[in-house]
Amino acid sequence: MSDQAIAITPNRLSLSDDGLALLFTESRTPRRFLPLPVTDEDLHAIWELTRWAPTGHNSQPMRVVFARTPEARERLLPHLAAGNDVKSKSAPVVAVLAYDTRYHTHLETLIPYNTTLQGHYETNIEERRRKGIFNATLQCAYFIMAVRAVGLAAGPIGGFDRDGINAELFPDGRYESLLVVNIGHIDESALRDRLPRLDRELTVSMV
Ligand SMILES: Cc1cc2nc3c(=O)[nH]c(=O)nc-3n(C[C@H](O)[C@H](O)[C@H](O)COP(=O)(O)O)c2cc1C
Repeated sequence: MSDQAIAITPNRLSLSDDGLALLFTESRTPRRFLPLPVTDEDLHAIWELTRWAPTGHNSQPMRVVFARTPEARERLLPHLAAGNDVKSKSAPVVAVLAYDTRYHTHLETLIPYNTTLQGHYETNIEERRRKGIFNATLQCAYFIMAVRAVGLAAGPIGGFDRDGINAELFPDGRYESLLVVNIGHIDESALRDRLPRLDRELTVSMV
């Protein structure tokens, strides 16, 4: 180890136990929300965090629609699976996270030193789609953690009719929905016991 590496180590930052609990160990997925407001400032703060997390080629292919009025939420409910609609109905905000099928058109700005990438993806549609969905899905995970980081609860919902939501929100076909996320203040009285997580012995190898 070089002297420089040793000098840097004491400055290493990490979250407090409360921060770790908020993001990972204690946060739960809500089944019902309290009737408390979520502000547009909260939603802006969620996005402001999400956008800094890393993506391949800095491509940032995820897009967000926040449905934060009763009318906007009502448009989504018929497209959610039975049981999920009840959860979203109690959420003050329902976010639809989508993938921009033409995300590559921003690469000139997002990674200006790579002068061939945008053109490459214009013609290599299958690769563009595969990498775009992969990176947008990563951003979905960052988004969930950002919701938790601002002190709200995130309820991801994968059980919904993608074609239905796409037709409702993205009729021109450019964006494709990936995940619905309910956002609000958790009603802990509606929680079930927490499900187990896999042990390190099963999931992690050290080579
Ligand atoms: C991609 C994804 C899809 C999910 N889809 C649904 C869903 O359709 N309906 C639902 O009630 N919960 C859904 N969940 C919530 C999970 O079941 C829940 O986060 C998990 O059981 C952990 O719960 P906990 O955070 O309370 O420990 C989904 C979660 C993720 C990340």
